[in-house]
Amino acid sequence: MSPARLNESRVSRRWGPTLAGHAIIGAQWGDEGKGKLVDFIASRYDAVVRFQGGNNAGHTVKVKDKVYKFHLLPSGAVRGRHIVIGNGVVVDPRVLLKEMEALQTGGRKLRLHLSDRAHLILPYHILLDGAAETEGRKIGTTKRGIGPAYADKARRIGIRIGEFVHPGRFRRRLEEAYPVKKRAMIAHKISPMPTLEAIHAEYAPLAKRLRPYVTDTSLVLHDLFRRDRNVLFEGAQGVLLDIDHGTYPYVTSSSTVASNATAGSGVGSRHVEAVLGVAKAYVTRVGEGPFPTELPTEEGIGKSILTIGKEFGTTTGRPRRVGWQDLVALEYAVRVGGISHLAITKLDVLNGVTDLKVCVGYKVDGRAQRGFPADVEDLARVQPVFRTLKGWLEAARRERGRWVLDPAARSYLRFIEEHVEVPVAFASVGPARDETLVLRPSPFAPR
Ligand code: GDP
Ligand code: IMO
Ligand code: MG
Repeated sequence: MSPARLNESRVSRRWGPTLAGHAIIGAQWGDEGKGKLVDFIASRYDAVVRFQGGNNAGHTVKVKDKVYKFHLLPSGAVRGRHIVIGNGVVVDPRVLLKEMEALQTGGRKLRLHLSDRAHLILPYHILLDGAAETEGRKIGTTKRGIGPAYADKARRIGIRIGEFVHPGRFRRRLEEAYPVKKRAMIAHKISPMPTLEAIHAEYAPLAKRLRPYVTDTSLVLHDLFRRDRNVLFEGAQGVLLDIDHGTYPYVTSSSTVASNATAGSGVGSRHVEAVLGVAKAYVTRVGEGPFPTELPTEEGIGKSILTIGKEFGTTTGRPRRVGWQDLVALEYAVRVGGISHLAITKLDVLNGVTDLKVCVGYKVDGRAQRGFPADVEDLARVQPVFRTLKGWLEAARRERGRWVLDPAARSYLRFIEEHVEVPVAFASVGPARDETLVLRPSPFAPR
């Protein structure tokens, strides 16, 4: 047999066009309802993968009366899928083990694969995250140690999960990193300061418990792809919090765009064929940073969106800032995020709003601006140009078991589609799994 013939079938199989992966990402400043949408479409996927961020995320899934909140595990865990924590994630083992326990006590089988290349969050990261907020520009982080852990990764003093669970290596890596972190803790006057011994004593047993799940997750994913299995990449945060494309420095420390789904999980870029961007029917933001369409929340429409929408952070419980839909920002998020389809959530929260405002442009000193400014000082100066659309009393109602969208809500979604030039495939009118409308055929439609 000639070598060419010998290799042909394997080559065409490995490089052929059939290997489908999809991503779901936030198209605003986080908390758009990604967890809910992941759960809604998860039935068609064999694996759900987190590829960036850490337990700064808080993804909510509501199935009937049960509410699940995930910070580290992908939301696909509810459906018993293979769940993967990829190399791009920063992992707090205490949080991970707690989430694993909570799911397992529900009697659910956990098919977890934790990347040996993911980075570890240790107590000094969490302490330094809080301390950094008191100097320089205050970001309003979740104080989960995310930024300091990614900083150590880039500085090459981070500890990877593979080292963490290896007998001997964890201690050695900690001995290298600790003196650097100790100096930082002293500079920030952190007291009491965790000692190396204390960290090691607390974390070594955690490493032992996680060891059975740690693996080269790139191989896990490639095996799934080779068996023609469907894979969903679950983003955390949102495009406007992306370290490069977001409202820097008021961003998170990882790349939240769809193109990072592949680098953050060790698969090639051709494995992400379609990207579902999730956006609310309005906009929210937690933490500091400019927000052109922001509304006051002491009274009026801002207050009712905050209360009816229950806009309090899933991770920190902080009230979210709220504002009108911003199609300049959404068009930008679609463009740089690589979004091919949209899901618009929380249409029900706007029930009864008669004049619905939507930002369709930015002006600076009375002159129209193109695109979304790079600099937050410029973004803080833009004046949003609003269009007023007709609102609805009830975004959708059930008729003989089927959802029917209100005509005004439909026009609003069409208006969004025309502006951002991608189809709105799903609409969401409540937190529960079945409060979701499939509006258009898409690669994500649940089976
Ligand atoms: P994620 O971080 O993008 O997964 O979003 P979060 O879970 O942090 O925040 C979204 C919140 O809105 C959660 O409490 C959801 O249960 C809830 N939610 C999602 N979709 C809808 C919707 O269409 N209507 C209403 N009222 N709540 C929703
Ligand atoms: P999910 O996945 C909303 C925000 C923080 C802060 C900034 C930096 O639930 O959508 P960090 O702790 O990441 O260094 O904080 O990013 N932030 C989020 N806001 N949803 C999130 O995640 C967020 N994760 C981080 O509030 O402004
Ligand atoms: Mg959230």
